[in-house]
Amino acid sequence: LEPYQTKVNNELVHSLHKYSDLAQQYGTPLYIFDEESFRERVYNFKNALENPYFETELLFASKSVLTLAIAKLISEYGIGQDVVSAGEIFTGKKGGVQPSKMYFHGNNKLDEELAFAVDQEVGTIVIDNRMEADRLNNILEQKGKKQRALLRLNPGVEAHTHEYIKTANLDSKFGESVFDEKIEDIIESIYNYDNIDLAGLHCHIGSQIFDSESFIKAADEMLHFAQRIQTNLNIPIREINFGGGFGVYYTEEDKPFDIAEFLPNFIEHVHEKSTEYGIQLDKVTIEPGRSLVNNSGSTLYTIGDIKQTVGGKKYAFIDGGMTDNIRPALYQAEYEAALPNKINEPVKETYTIAGKACESGDVVINNIDLPQVETGDLLLVNGTGSYNYSMASNYNHIPIPAMVHIDGEKSYLTVKRQSFEDIIANNIL
Ligand code: LLP
Repeated sequence: LEPYQTKVNNELVHSLHKYSDLAQQYGTPLYIFDEESFRERVYNFKNALENPYFETELLFASKSVLTLAIAKLISEYGIGQDVVSAGEIFTGKKGGVQPSKMYFHGNNKLDEELAFAVDQEVGTIVIDNRMEADRLNNILEQKGKKQRALLRLNPGVEAHTHEYIKTANLDSKFGESVFDEKIEDIIESIYNYDNIDLAGLHCHIGSQIFDSESFIKAADEMLHFAQRIQTNLNIPIREINFGGGFGVYYTEEDKPFDIAEFLPNFIEHVHEKSTEYGIQLDKVTIEPGRSLVNNSGSTLYTIGDIKQTVGGKKYAFIDGGMTDNIRPALYQAEYEAALPNKINEPVKETYTIAGKACESGDVVINNIDLPQVETGDLLLVNGTGSYNYSMASNYNHIPIPAMVHIDGEKSYLTVKRQSFEDIIANNIL
């Protein structure tokens, strides 16, 4: 359970809200997002970044979850936004984020997206590769503008995580490799573009990382590389963005490290190493997504049919599934769940929680021990705050669920449940 979840009699309650009341008021499936815990995590990260050596900025990787309401919170908390498409820039700005506080990432940003970012005055563009730098400079030249930028590097640090969410191996599609024999040439030509102000470097070594040593290793590689660039090319590296990727708790097997403990040590390490290497860093940035929001989110479903297979499996079907949470099907991700209206009842049986999509892989939880499950029961899956809503789909024309925010005693709708009309809104007959 999360700190905002308590047991009252035989019911699980979110702050002051009974899950059964939320289901009644907003319907299921329902994404529930807790603002208080999000706020707390933002301030924990911010505090942990404070230091006497250089400016730091916390960015929120908005690919993890982005709505107008989330963008509004980002702007209210005074943090920056990591965006990866013109769509995310658009939504962030609509929600109140200042484009100057955005970092625009991604490989193969389209010309239209680069032009849009420049027009919107996005603060920093994180260049993925040499061709992109070329395209960006042309766009800037035409517009007579200058753009602050970082270059994404692949420092070749292996983090132990799922193959699909590793980003820094030698064959990664992201960034330019520090091992590329042309890397100095690439950096020099970007630096020499008249319209690009190359402020520094970026890396992101992967996602859902539990080994804090990987971040230290990446920092060492990046600073060592910065020294090489400074020595060989006389190009100053003023900012390094170390990406996101801090692991979170989904199930008992996950052992995340404590950010409040780790970050001050990390900053100290970056300071020591940069001093040793003679790098005058003005700014250090990080851009977590999952670790800021994942455990603020949960999804509430209603149990439908229950089926015993001849093979010995007992299915409990829910009114959502892979269309609102693709992660189990895509990454074999695991989740914990509870029956909020039977929270004190003893475990009775092992169930497989499956969705309603036409796909055998549409299983949200394989083998979970629960009290007796009956049709009409609510099922709450925790840890769905990141990469659930943002990866939702309309497969089988199943509507994307509503989202509700809880802030203490307040609850309010931030995303309406999709209607069938919404699903076909762009269809032409
Ligand atoms: N910065 C960059 C450049 C990234 O590519 C990512 C994630 C982040 C920051 C944020 O990483 P986080 O702190 O959230 O781990 N859909 C997958 C995760 C894909 C992550 C992609 N990049 C999942 O559901 O696990």
